Amino acid sequence: MEQIAAPPRTYQSRGEMPERFRETLEQMMKSQAYRELAAARMFGHGLQYVEDGKWLKFMVWHIGEETEHYLAVARMYEKFTGESVEGWVHQRLQAKPVHFAGSWIELAMAQFLYDRGGFWQLQEYEDCAFPPYREVIGKIIAEERGHQGLGERIVVELCEGGHHEDVKQSLFERWLRLGLLSFGRPSTEGNQYAISVGLKKRDSGAVMQDFLNDIKPAMRAGGLKFPEAERLQMELPESLDWKL
Ligand SMILES: [Fe+2]
Ligand SMILES: [Fe+2]
Repeated sequence: MEQIAAPPRTYQSRGEMPERFRETLEQMMKSQAYRELAAARMFGHGLQYVEDGKWLKFMVWHIGEETEHYLAVARMYEKFTGESVEGWVHQRLQAKPVHFAGSWIELAMAQFLYDRGGFWQLQEYEDCAFPPYREVIGKIIAEERGHQGLGERIVVELCEGGHHEDVKQSLFERWLRLGLLSFGRPSTEGNQYAISVGLKKRDSGAVMQDFLNDIKPAMRAGGLKFPEAERLQMELPESLDWKL
């Protein structure tokens, strides 16, 4: 008879968590805080490239939402640990500065791909074994859906217009890599641990595949191609389906 595994137990408070569980959860919160603030800064920096009034309001709204996401995660972290996450985030931003876009089309690529990476990653935490995290994540996921949808629309519009033929593919590849990096290395022991205790749903490799499938229709519409996997210079599972 087939055995159905019991769902991992949930924890409401820090004190009852095993040490590794608590450390993994704190690491998840810190990385997310970094990513949200990095996004706010990158899109804030990109405001200078917005010439069309119809997108100006959207960009300002987007920067505001990333800022809110950062603050929501920072509040959760402080409530959970009793300490501020700010010091860690700023140190990390200095050590690993976020790449800034240099043009309107690059900003749109970042919205299309970098933001989408975060969206898919957060969905893996939706049923997190620490229920207070689920609440914070749920609201953020709903908002991220709007960001990437618009990013995609702008990229397709710009690519179809035919004015960015010389740069579109290389910018796509740069931000594809940065988007894929948000999932962390696939098939690690840490991945397995987080899955086994219910902190995340699946291995990074499976999430990468969802992300790739999700961007294919817009790539076809915009005449974009996947590069050779080696060109991305990162650890990727062999099994990824790159077929457009
Ligand atoms: Fe966000
Ligand atoms: Fe976002």
